[in-house]
Amino acid sequence: MSIRIAATGSYVPERILSNADLEKMVETNDEWIRTRTGIEERRIASPEQATSDLAYEACRKALETAGISGKEVDAIIVGTITPDFVFPSTGCILQHRLGAEGAFCFDLEAACSGLLYSLEVAYSLMKTHPKKYKYVLVCGAEKLSSITDWTNRNTCVLFGDGAGAILLENTEEDGPDCVIASDLHTDGGYGDILKMPAGGSRMPATKESLEAHLHFIHMEGKEVFKLAVNAMVGAGKSVLEEAGITPDEVKMVIPHQANSRIILAVAPRLGVPEERVYMNINRYGNTSAASIGLCLDEAVRAGKLAKGDYVLLTAFGGGLTWGAMLLRF
Ligand code: COA
Repeated sequence: MSIRIAATGSYVPERILSNADLEKMVETNDEWIRTRTGIEERRIASPEQATSDLAYEACRKALETAGISGKEVDAIIVGTITPDFVFPSTGCILQHRLGAEGAFCFDLEAACSGLLYSLEVAYSLMKTHPKKYKYVLVCGAEKLSSITDWTNRNTCVLFGDGAGAILLENTEEDGPDCVIASDLHTDGGYGDILKMPAGGSRMPATKESLEAHLHFIHMEGKEVFKLAVNAMVGAGKSVLEEAGITPDEVKMVIPHQANSRIILAVAPRLGVPEERVYMNINRYGNTSAASIGLCLDEAVRAGKLAKGDYVLLTAFGGGLTWGAMLLRF
């Protein structure tokens, strides 16, 4: 038996928020945002749309592409830090909408590394219980606009909304699995440099917490930047070494889309030329757990990946969480 990627799917909301639009909201300018982050525009969900609605569209496309119904899915894992509710989980809501009655479902919170962590869990379940888990749906989905402080220019220019899904299948075919190697990490000691201070059990919502803007993303940008580059390079290298694959053999690197300068600092250190690094941050900004799935689905639909291609995923996010995963497409 082997585990393969049966299909991918993605979704972004219709509304585009451009840098010019942001110029009217905070003291910033297009030139600063483009040169410091690579972002030109981002998508913003409508007030009626929650994270599960974005996830639903991405998952629906993946199931349609694979030609299966929700009923055939055995598990759904949603990587998100912007769930519709604290509970029920976004996974539960998604299960109902997809008609995936037989699936067990949950959310996994690992910030921008959410998709990689979810893939690791999905792959491990499928490898351990191949008869029980034929199809597992993994989805990274975020409505970051709901936790973005639209009065803070340090953060509001960075984030956007979207969802990306990957359907894994346990097949009867012999051959290599789609997950060749992975290297995931956590360092809770750095939790304070990227977090949402209020809204959890540590600091439930109060009038004061709302007035102090504590229900939004707080970030020490420079510190995050430095750690992100080193962490993604370290994990990327270790995954290639474990797999015995040279950078030349990697068809595409898909890094988490946090900042084009971070991405362009990581690529040469991994020994992969820029033209093999996938970037769509200019159009979507940082969509946290959704970003890698959004890139992968775009690349697949554009015919940029063929069977057998090696794709290196790298991620970094709040927690701190980070890691890399080598996929064989
Ligand atoms: N528009 C205009 N000026 C801005 C601005 C904006 N949107 N945001 C910040 N500035 C100003 C700052 O106030 C500062 O001004 P000062 O020198 O007068 O104090 C100046 O620009 C430089 O700010 P700085 O924070 O040093 O910029 P930077 O080059 O570090 O870029 C980030 C800031 C946030 C783009 C960058 O640090 C970054 O991308 N960090 C990683 C973020 C990230 O990836 N987070 C998610 C991880 S998953």
